[in-house]
Amino acid sequence: MYKVILRATELAHNIIKPMVSENDVVVDATLGNGNDTFFLSGLVTKGKVYSFDIQRSAIEKAESYIKENKIKNVVLLNVGHEKMDMYIDEKPMAIMFNLGYLPGGDKGITTMPDTTVEAVQKGLRMLHPGGVVTIEVYTGHNAGEDEAKKLVDYIKSLCSKEFSVMKINFLNKNKKAPFLIIIEKNDNCYECIQNNPYLT
Ligand SMILES: C[S@@+](CC[C@H](N)C(=O)[O-])C[C@H]1O[C@@H](n2cnc3c(N)ncnc32)[C@H](O)[C@@H]1O
Repeated sequence: MYKVILRATELAHNIIKPMVSENDVVVDATLGNGNDTFFLSGLVTKGKVYSFDIQRSAIEKAESYIKENKIKNVVLLNVGHEKMDMYIDEKPMAIMFNLGYLPGGDKGITTMPDTTVEAVQKGLRMLHPGGVVTIEVYTGHNAGEDEAKKLVDYIKSLCSKEFSVMKINFLNKNKKAPFLIIIEKNDNCYECIQNNPYLT
């Protein structure tokens, strides 16, 4: 059993956990089966989780779970994450993306290169200073290679005074094994604050 070098999903949880407090607002940009949403819901017990998915079936599954478990802090949105700026007024402390298709669902319905980049762009602008974005990238779906390339190209262009970025990938697994991108927003960059309307 491994204790440190875990699956990308678990690594993302371990990174987010110490960054988030009970009153924070956070985002699950890809609800799917709800694993990240309900993980986040347990962290922000007095805050809020906004969860996006374009598939009605994912929303309905999460709705049932919320009802059964009397969960009060999750807002489900059957909307593309690229529109997140239209639904969130707060500055989220964490945003999680888990790209690809719904596990156990239709493999033809996936996240797409342009909307993913747009959503990450918007998420980074909205992110609270000191906040973190995790992106689990899976190249094994139809649009996966193109999505990964566009995303990495965009993320490489980010100002290193405003964002610190890492990519974690397995070196001895299948080439298509998911990799993780972690982006932290500087909480003390005067220059960045001047240039970013979302921070003033
Ligand atoms: C890999 S799954 C997410 C897994 C999920 N985090 C979990 O814990 O089960 C990717 C999800 O992204 C959704 N998706 C695809 N395009 C989207 C978009 N533009 N906005 C929001 N969700 C999208 C898919 O419907 C799918 O459910």
